[in-house]
Amino acid sequence: MVNLDVIEKKALREIKDVSDKEQLEALRIKYLGRKGELTLILRSLKDLSSQEKKTLGSKSNALKEKLQEAIDERFLEFGDEKSAGIDITRPGHKIERGHVHPLTLIEREVRRIFTSLNFSVVEGPELENEFYNFDALNLPEWHPAREAWDTFWIKPKKGDKERLLLRTHTSPVQIRYMETHEPPFQIIVPGRVFRYEATDATHGDNFYQFEGLMVGKNVSLANFKYVITKFFEEFFRGQDIEFRFRPSYFPFVEPGVEVDVRFKGGDWLEMLGAGMIHPHVFESSRYNPREYQGFAFGVGIDRLAMIKYKIPDVRMLYSGDLRFIKQF
Ligand code: DAH
Repeated sequence: MVNLDVIEKKALREIKDVSDKEQLEALRIKYLGRKGELTLILRSLKDLSSQEKKTLGSKSNALKEKLQEAIDERFLEFGDEKSAGIDITRPGHKIERGHVHPLTLIEREVRRIFTSLNFSVVEGPELENEFYNFDALNLPEWHPAREAWDTFWIKPKKGDKERLLLRTHTSPVQIRYMETHEPPFQIIVPGRVFRYEATDATHGDNFYQFEGLMVGKNVSLANFKYVITKFFEEFFRGQDIEFRFRPSYFPFVEPGVEVDVRFKGGDWLEMLGAGMIHPHVFESSRYNPREYQGFAFGVGIDRLAMIKYKIPDVRMLYSGDLRFIKQF
């Protein structure tokens, strides 16, 4: 029976004692070369019983690794990286760069433009109650327009006074903000919203919006037109765009409008809903509608991203597919 411990001691001492890399290479051949002492032991394993094979096999493999490491270490001391098994010409590992999600890029751009127009950025809760999401926005329970917002309702707990839901739009933050602030002010509210809907190329069951709100004594639809035109000209700067303001209906504004944008040679694209804040909305926030007036608007961030980056399917934004994300 071979004594591995004796070989180990002897080899390690010899490896420690060599004074140049030629001697070291000779030692490597002596122990680990094709006819080296350890190599022969490993080769002879095949003639042993399976029990012996197991114990002697793993022991001698461990020793082989240990000697190889000791030898490599000394090769490095002699400045010979190549013999130490380090190929200095081998290309390095490429470090993967992180990427900012396109929705984050768009939201940052929206924040940048509106703060440059002297708007403040405000946020609100994703878990809302029925009052802020609907009633206070002139959408009482019986209102047929409620059906326009398919809602994820939260299962009520015993004793709950209010019905909870995942907010279907960023509009409830209008009320929350007005409850605690006095005009004049102008804010935007970016955030995530939820709809109980089947998803397809243009609809998600959760997506991002931002709300805009400007209130004062003399804020008019002309001011809205100016602000929103400035926003889109900056957001799509360098592109030739036209605007179209159409009458529309939303319960929380009167009159209501929709804004379409057209790029040179393209079709009209619906961009957002807006209007002059409805007196009932001011009353929900305990403002006097005879004292103040203002405009509000709501824009889909996903939609802006799809148009700006020519993304054909909204679901790509939520796929987590790095081949997609890396393109931004
Ligand atoms: N909240 C509306 C939606 O989610 C968008 C909207 C329309 C917001 C008109 C507004 C507005 O503030 O005035 O569909």
